[in-house]
Amino acid sequence: MFHRINRISTVSLVAAFSASILHGQASTLNIDINRPKAAVSPTLYGLMTEEINYSYDGGLYAELVRNRTFRSDWTGILNWFLIEKGSASARVAVDNREGPSTALRTSARLQVTKADAGNPAGLLNEGYWGIAVRPNTQYKGSLFAKSDSAGPLPVKLALVSDQSGQVLGQTSVSVSGTDWREYKFEMRAGNVKASSENHLELTIDRPATLWLQLVSLFPPTYHDRPNGNRIDIMEKLAAMHPSFLRFPGGNYLEGGRISERFDWKKMIGPLVDRPTHPTTWSYHSTDGMGLLEFLEWCEDLRMQPLLGVFAGYALNGELAKPGPDLEPYVQEALEEIEYVTGGAETKWGALRVRDGHPAPFALRYVEVGNEDSFDRQRTYDGRFAQFYNAIKAKYPNIQVIASFPVKGTTPDVVDDHYYKREQGMFEEAGHYDKTDRNGPKIFVGEWATREGSPTPNFGAALGDAAFMTGLERNSDVVMMAAYAPLFVNVNPGGMQWSSDLIGYDALNSYGSPSYYAQVMFSSCLGDHTLDSSVSGTGDKFFYSATTSSKILCVKLVNAASVEQPITINLTGLGNAGHSAHVETLRAATTWATNTIADPKPVVPVRSTVSIKGERMPYTVPAYSIQVLEIELK
Ligand code: AHR
Repeated sequence: MFHRINRISTVSLVAAFSASILHGQASTLNIDINRPKAAVSPTLYGLMTEEINYSYDGGLYAELVRNRTFRSDWTGILNWFLIEKGSASARVAVDNREGPSTALRTSARLQVTKADAGNPAGLLNEGYWGIAVRPNTQYKGSLFAKSDSAGPLPVKLALVSDQSGQVLGQTSVSVSGTDWREYKFEMRAGNVKASSENHLELTIDRPATLWLQLVSLFPPTYHDRPNGNRIDIMEKLAAMHPSFLRFPGGNYLEGGRISERFDWKKMIGPLVDRPTHPTTWSYHSTDGMGLLEFLEWCEDLRMQPLLGVFAGYALNGELAKPGPDLEPYVQEALEEIEYVTGGAETKWGALRVRDGHPAPFALRYVEVGNEDSFDRQRTYDGRFAQFYNAIKAKYPNIQVIASFPVKGTTPDVVDDHYYKREQGMFEEAGHYDKTDRNGPKIFVGEWATREGSPTPNFGAALGDAAFMTGLERNSDVVMMAAYAPLFVNVNPGGMQWSSDLIGYDALNSYGSPSYYAQVMFSSCLGDHTLDSSVSGTGDKFFYSATTSSKILCVKLVNAASVEQPITINLTGLGNAGHSAHVETLRAATTWATNTIADPKPVVPVRSTVSIKGERMPYTVPAYSIQVLEIELK
C-alpha cells in the first residue's frame, strides 16, 4: 500500500487536480517564502516521562531482575519462586531484621535444609514478563549476600529457557562469611536464539542459610552506561530529535501521599542506599532511575532537562500550606537544583560529583508541581509564589513554569495539558491562534489523542498531527510540547493508562503511528513560520509551513477518507526546478495500527516530488500525514 505512494507520478497528480477543478472543488494553499511571520521555538518538541505503565522498571531502565530488593509487596517475594530440584528442600521468606544498608533493612532469607550437587535448591526470578536473552551477549550482575557460616558458599547463577530448561548463560559467586558483602558477576549467552521466555536461577548445592538483597542483572546498555537504559528504546527516542525531557512527572512526581512523592534525595547514590518506594501507578519503583539517571538520559540524547519539583501537594489532597509548612519543600527544591547545577564547592553539587558526574548540568526550566488545578483547597497561587520567589532569588536565569495559570505571580511559562479524542484534537488545532502574545509562554507539558490501546491507532496519529500543525503555527508562544505518556509495557497488567506512544515487551519495542507522526514533524522544523493561507479544503485538512535559510517544511494532514487535491502556491520559490523529499504516513482506515507482533504496518515512506516553478498541483492522499522538505537554493 505504501509503495504505491512512491509511484504516484506527476501525471496522476495533475489528473487528480484537474478532476477536482472540474467538480468545482478547487483548493489552494498559498505559502509566501519571502514573508516570515513568527519564530518557531527550537525547543518545540521534547519528551515527558514518569514511572507509569512500567516505563522505567520493566521498560527503559534495563534491569532484568524484577523485585530485586524484595520490597514490591507485603510478601516481599513477589516475582521470586522457590527451586527445589530432585530431593532438595528449601524455604524462602523475607527477613525483616537483616539487610545490607540503612535504606534496605530487609532481605530474602533462603533456608536450604537439603541439597547436593545433583539436587540444588534456590530461587527463580521471572523478570519483567520474561528475561530477554540475546545471542553472543554479555550480562553484568551483582548481589548483596551473607550466609550462616564463615566458609565459602558457592552460589550458581544461570539464565535458563522457560520451555526447554536450556542454560543460556551461567556463572557463580562465592559468598563468604556472615557479613553483608556485594558480589559482582558476569555471564555470557552464546549462540542462542533471541527470546524473552527465560528466567534467572540462583542455586546452592548444600544445606545453608543465605540472605540476599539487591539481586541485579543488566544486558548491554545505551552508551554502555552502568545502571543504564535499553538500547532499542533509546534509539527510538533519539529518532524523535527531542530537545528536552520533562521529568519526573506527572502524578509520579506528586505521589499518592506526600511520603510517596518523588523524594529525590532517596534516589541518588549507590543503589543499596535507595529505599525504593510505592508509586501512584499501583506498583513499586526500584528507583534505579533516580535523579542522576534522568540527567544522564538527557545527556545521552542531548536534551535539556525540564525538572519538575515537588510543590507540597500530593494526589490524595495532602498538602503543605504556603508559609512555614511549605518551606522545607521549597528548600528541598533549591537543594535539588543545586545537585543538578552546582559546582564541587557546593554541598549538593559535591554529592553529584561523588555520584560520578563532576560536570554540572545546565538547567533552564523548572516546573513547580503538576496539575495543581486539582488542589481543592486552591492553595497553588500561594505555593507557586513561594517557590517562584525562592528559585528566582537564587537562580535568576531559571525559567519557572506554573503547572496551571496562577494569580498574583506571573510565571515565565504555563503548562497546559490535553487528552482528547481525534475530533477534540482537530478542534484544539486552532487553540493558540488567538493567545495573548504578551502573557507567559506556553508549555504543552502533556498531550495526546487517546484512541487505540495500548498504543494509539492511525486516527489518533491524525489528531496528533492536526494538533501539531497548530503548535508549530503558534510556536512563538508555544515554546515546548511533549506527548504523554511516552511508554507502555504491553504485557497483561503492564498498562495503567492508554494511549501510549511507544510499546514494548522484554525483547522488542515498536513505535505507534503517533510516534512516527512525531518523528516526521520534528525532523523538519524550520526556525520561523511563513505567511500562508488555505481555501477550499474540507474541515479535516490541516497544514503548517515553516522555513529556515536552507529548507522549507510543509506539513499536510488530510484526516478525511478521500484524497485532497490542492494547488500549492510557493511564492518566492522561483522558477528554477526544485525537488521535495516527501515523508508519508498513511493508512486505509483510522483503526489501522502497529502492535508488538506486527510493528510496521503504519510507517513513513519516503518519496520525491519535482516542483516546476512556484505553482505546484498536488494531491494529498486520503488519511495521510505528509512532510514535504524542499531545499531552498
Ligand atoms: O500522563 C498520565 C497522567 O495524566 C499524568 O501523570 C498526569 O499529569 C495526567 O493527569
